[in-house]
Amino acid sequence: MASAGVHCTLDSFSALRRYGALVPAGTPVGLRFNPGVRVGYGSNTRASYGNAKFGFELEECRQALLVAESAGLVVDSAHTHIGWGLQQDAAGAIEQAFVRLAEVAQQIPQLSAVNIGGGLGGRFHAADRPLDLSTWSELIRRHLAPLGVTVACEPGTFVAAPAGVLLVEVNTVEERRGKRWIGVDAGYAINPCPALYGIPIEVVPVRQPLAKPVNAYHVAGHINESYDIWASDYPLPSIHEGDVLALLPAGAYGASMASDHCLRGQVQEVLV
Ligand SMILES: Cc1ncc(COP(=O)(O)O)c(C=O)c1O
Repeated sequence: MASAGVHCTLDSFSALRRYGALVPAGTPVGLRFNPGVRVGYGSNTRASYGNAKFGFELEECRQALLVAESAGLVVDSAHTHIGWGLQQDAAGAIEQAFVRLAEVAQQIPQLSAVNIGGGLGGRFHAADRPLDLSTWSELIRRHLAPLGVTVACEPGTFVAAPAGVLLVEVNTVEERRGKRWIGVDAGYAINPCPALYGIPIEVVPVRQPLAKPVNAYHVAGHINESYDIWASDYPLPSIHEGDVLALLPAGAYGASMASDHCLRGQVQEVLV
């Protein structure tokens, strides 16, 4: 990787030692730090990265610099990734994380960049208030710009999620235990994001996208897992077998996490 010019960010003493043994002396690396706050989309702990398995503690910076140096590496950046789907009401916690990052970055003598990770774009319910870009940029300006180095970011979901839509065909419409169920010809293995992270998606009937909802449906996938549910109690117009539904967003944590569970195979991807 290093010979191809890839810049790695590492977050364990072990990785520093092992990477240093593989690459030429003087290879630059970044250090990842724990943001120290636990925020992400909703109350889902899978969406927050702070105080979990990632990153050095601030107090470990000096030791990490020493280990990197004796492994022949040059630390040139400090990184943190706070969480997924950050909301506006997390602004205070995000500010704390940036303050921490600025503090630790100042301990790195050859600092050329700080990397603030991702986390943007969390609007999945109409009521969601994703972190406003102006709040984000103001916090960066206030706490990180004074360092006078490059500010890098990794906003994956923000860019990729809305770019993908999964089209499925309804093969079953049936009442079961007092609920209306829709079965479709694709399951969570095609796009694990909603089931894995509990992320709500939109279900749009393709032929009548603006028709008034008349019923609440559970929309289920075709995999033999009880959590293979695309949406619960979702308001839709009258749905019939053979209808096509658009499930969105489907552009992030979808194809790259897909599996062949139940040997259902993969979808055809069409780039428009
Ligand atoms: C280190 C790191 N950076 C960036 C991202 C992408 O974050 P997002 O897609 O929420 O912007 C992730 C996602 O897990 C990550 O682990």
